[in-house]
Amino acid sequence: MAQTTHIAVTPGDGIGPEVVEEAIRCLDTLRTKHSLALEWTHFPWPSHAWHQEHGKSMPEDALSQLKAYDAILLGALGDPGPVDDPNRYLLTDSVSLAPLLEMRKGFDQWVCERPARLLPGARRYLADERAKDLDMLVIRENSEGEYVGQGGRLRKGTEDETATQMEVFTRKATNRIIRYAFEQAHTRATERANEGRTRHFRTLDGRDCESQVCLITKRNALRYWGDMYTEAFEEISKEFPDVATHHELVDAACMKFVQSPWTFDVVVASNLQGDILTDLAAVLSGGMGVAPSCNLNPTDPDMPSMFEPTHGSAPDIAGQGLADPTAMLFTVARMLEWFGRKDPVMAAAGKELFGAVAADLAENAGTRRGTEDIGAAICGRLTA
Ligand code: IPM
Ligand code: MN
Repeated sequence: MAQTTHIAVTPGDGIGPEVVEEAIRCLDTLRTKHSLALEWTHFPWPSHAWHQEHGKSMPEDALSQLKAYDAILLGALGDPGPVDDPNRYLLTDSVSLAPLLEMRKGFDQWVCERPARLLPGARRYLADERAKDLDMLVIRENSEGEYVGQGGRLRKGTEDETATQMEVFTRKATNRIIRYAFEQAHTRATERANEGRTRHFRTLDGRDCESQVCLITKRNALRYWGDMYTEAFEEISKEFPDVATHHELVDAACMKFVQSPWTFDVVVASNLQGDILTDLAAVLSGGMGVAPSCNLNPTDPDMPSMFEPTHGSAPDIAGQGLADPTAMLFTVARMLEWFGRKDPVMAAAGKELFGAVAADLAENAGTRRGTEDIGAAICGRLTA
């Protein structure tokens, strides 16, 4: 029997608890079905509710408590809603969302993986038929860059006020994220070949490859880290001669994501640019309701990785049972596949869940259903 994998479940705010409930329902079903060695524990923090009671979003020793787990499954953080209650306990975004950044940083979750695939049944915002082939994996550098949180405000409140916001890019973090992107390109090409859906990308010298990595920077204006990323990319690409490469500036990349998103495979970008690009990629692949997100530490097995849907707390629909748990369930599928690195039964359960969520999406395109209905329908598929 495999060693038990422990998940810290942090439902958070707004629709977080609602979509987490469906995640647990599906996890429970899969655990029973496959005798998965899986346990989970719920935490009431980080959340607005905890802050209201204790004056902070999570306890002082939150990270050391969470470190004991193999993974964190987070619902959502932010405005708890309902928006028509002007007296609800509300924190500013930078306070309520800080735990997210603390976990990413504290556990050195240096990869943020956000797959964007336009699956049958998902809303297609783009008119071009070819958009149905949209299938990319955006890899966001998740440990530094524009998010280091260094800087300050000088002469605050005066007309001479000066705000500085430092960006830090290290060669070490650059190399590891770029190498990770190439490795994922390989993995994806192998998976596609196994599923009989090989794709073709051309290299600059006219060769045909089954995968591609696109580096995104703003090196024409932000040249220091832009040049370092470009050099690292060129060097590391030599280790992967069968992966096609290209480079886009972030503004042009936004345009091409909309114009011809099917030409991208793996995309690697800095923390902030990856953040912005993944909202765009999420919409192009059906919207926030279907977009998963994984904050990973692939190098240190003692550090938990964190899995969360890309969406926020959706205060406008919170508490009404209307939230679509699809993004959360795709996230859980990826979490199981992550556990699958050590335990093939988990990997198979992850694939099974992905298949059930995708089939549910395909069959119910456009129908209005509540959170529970969707979760129950997907569980029904798992037990059928
Ligand atoms: C995300 C979010 C966060 C980020 C915010 C909430 C700090 O937008 O996960 O994409 O910018 O990373
Ligand atoms: Mn974001």
